[in-house]
Amino acid sequence: MTVHPVPARSDFPADFRWGVSTSSFQIEGAGREDGKGESIWDRFCSQPGRIRDGSDAQVACDHYHRYPQDLDMARALGVNAYRFSIAWPRILPKGRLGLGAVNEAGLAFYDRLVDAMLERGLDPWCTLYHWDLPQALQDEGGWTVRSTVDAFVAYTDVVTRRLGDRVKHWITHNEPWCSSMMSYWEGVHAPGGRSLPDALQACHHILLSHGLAIPVIRRNVTEAQVGITLSLHPITAASDSAADQAAVRRHDGLRNRWFLDPLFGRGYPEDTLALLGEAAPAVQPGDLAAIATATDFLGVNYYFPEMVADDPTALHSPMRSRLVERHGVERTGFGWEVSPQGLVDLLTRVQRDYAPAVIQLTENGSTFEDVLTPEGRVHDAERLSYLQRHLAALKQALDAGVPVKGYFAWSLLDNFEWAEGYLRRFGLAYVDYPTQRRILKDSGLWYGRFLNE
Ligand code: FCB
Repeated sequence: MTVHPVPARSDFPADFRWGVSTSSFQIEGAGREDGKGESIWDRFCSQPGRIRDGSDAQVACDHYHRYPQDLDMARALGVNAYRFSIAWPRILPKGRLGLGAVNEAGLAFYDRLVDAMLERGLDPWCTLYHWDLPQALQDEGGWTVRSTVDAFVAYTDVVTRRLGDRVKHWITHNEPWCSSMMSYWEGVHAPGGRSLPDALQACHHILLSHGLAIPVIRRNVTEAQVGITLSLHPITAASDSAADQAAVRRHDGLRNRWFLDPLFGRGYPEDTLALLGEAAPAVQPGDLAAIATATDFLGVNYYFPEMVADDPTALHSPMRSRLVERHGVERTGFGWEVSPQGLVDLLTRVQRDYAPAVIQLTENGSTFEDVLTPEGRVHDAERLSYLQRHLAALKQALDAGVPVKGYFAWSLLDNFEWAEGYLRRFGLAYVDYPTQRRILKDSGLWYGRFLNE
């Protein structure tokens, strides 16, 4: 394995964007406060057996009340950008205009939050959808029905009219893979669906809503920079056999190309469509053109690579491939393979095949068992090493000509990690949930030194 020196901030361009990433449902808490409506994640958490530790996010990190202190911490780290998301049910408790009024208290919260970022010199990067769909819309079918697309565009209009004078960076969706496939097919995320056709239709509607929201954002926000964030994976074959190589191509078709191809104007990949057969989504005339609306950047979330083998018996998977665990590699607490090289491979591949003008690495991070010492320290050597090696990999990709312009560490704080509840800590800061005390871990202290050097 190549050993790269730990980079310094000065190894990166002076205008590089350094940030931390968060999302509304995972940190805010205040689940029923100030008129917020129920989201699909509130509902999912209330169903026994859905969340591994039986928890919910009604309080989470109580960021709704503690945001000034959290943003102080972000400023002290030295980041110049802060990625957050809006909870749709705070703005439209019933999901759409017509089903109720806009909730002024919800908008006022994001006014305060954005103002607090600007006061601290943090550039706000706003994600419109990080998975907390209003339950009222799910009651109508959620992302599987086309009317949710219209609801998203109307919600985007409300939010960008209000915040667009101050927020210039907009991400329509976070990781459509998760909000469609994991949510409507694999059953592990809200709303817990188990149908591949539903998931593919949901995915199409999510991508369509992205495309249709772009002109609305541009109309309401002068000098808007708009993009979408995808979770992407470099994929390798379990062996040199032709069958395994072919499995890589199939797996990549659904995992990566299914999103990248239509966003970059190529429509859905033909080979993947052929494998999906009747499960393929209904696409109306004009949809693909809308999805391909030009953006200003591509957001990439990178966590881990995947290795696959051919598996004709994998009947549950239209890709007839199976994930294979690489032996003898480092893994995070989640079991995800640690591979800084995977980041280089992924970014150079995206650049080679799609050539986006700008890439923003909108999430990257790791979870490990953290221990708070009696002295009040968290010596998270593995997370620190993960961060340093991924920054070295990022530098390598930059040197190879990939136009990556920013890095956002996931996450500022330990938080509610979806179906894992509070069992997985990803923060640069440890959250002691009973007291809500925040303690910068060694990784966070290092990120601060790196940024402030
Ligand atoms: C990503 C999600 C983010 C967080 C990290 C660990 O898939 O976007 O909310 O859960 O994984």
